[in-house]
Amino acid sequence: AADPKQGKEQTLGLIKPNAYSKRADIIGLIKKDGFTIAEQKEVTLTRNQVENFYAEHRGKKFYDELCTFMTSGPTIALLLEKADAIKEWRRVMGPTSVETAKKEAPNSIRALYGENVTKNAAHGSDSPESAKREVGFFFHVEDTYAMIKPNAVSHK
Ligand code: TYD
Ligand code: MG
Repeated sequence: AADPKQGKEQTLGLIKPNAYSKRADIIGLIKKDGFTIAEQKEVTLTRNQVENFYAEHRGKKFYDELCTFMTSGPTIALLLEKADAIKEWRRVMGPTSVETAKKEAPNSIRALYGENVTKNAAHGSDSPESAKREVGFFFHVEDTYAMIKPNAVSHK
């Protein structure tokens, strides 16, 4: 029988705090590129949550600056689905360095919305293993690594 989800993969995308104000534009690009946004959540990460999320970078010279930046404002977490979503999302984001992104991938999200290598607008999982861990970090709370509390929605 035909499986409508066949060939689809999931990855975790983040719109980082420096690009929060451009979230509508970025979500528009994501949809135009053929991703399905299966789940979406707005969160302001605590220091502890960021340190756990980016634990693989603990000890690197940029770790403290990265963690401080990631707690500086709201982040949008996206559960993205597409064929080959992990590679595709990293392609759409562009290289980590905004300088490189502007040269090599001028239409990428990091080229368009990044400010520097730290405030580079977006995150994407880099392997099936990290996608599983990182999706679980933000979604499917029942078997997650850390409980992420969504920002309260105010209706003023
Ligand atoms: P990394 O996993 O190398 O890049 P990517 O986000 O493309 O997977 O690094 C994680 C984040 O750490 C990166 O998005 C921004 C920050 N970072 C810096 O602030 N300075 C740096 O020199 C590097 C390599 C990363
Ligand atoms: Mg990485």
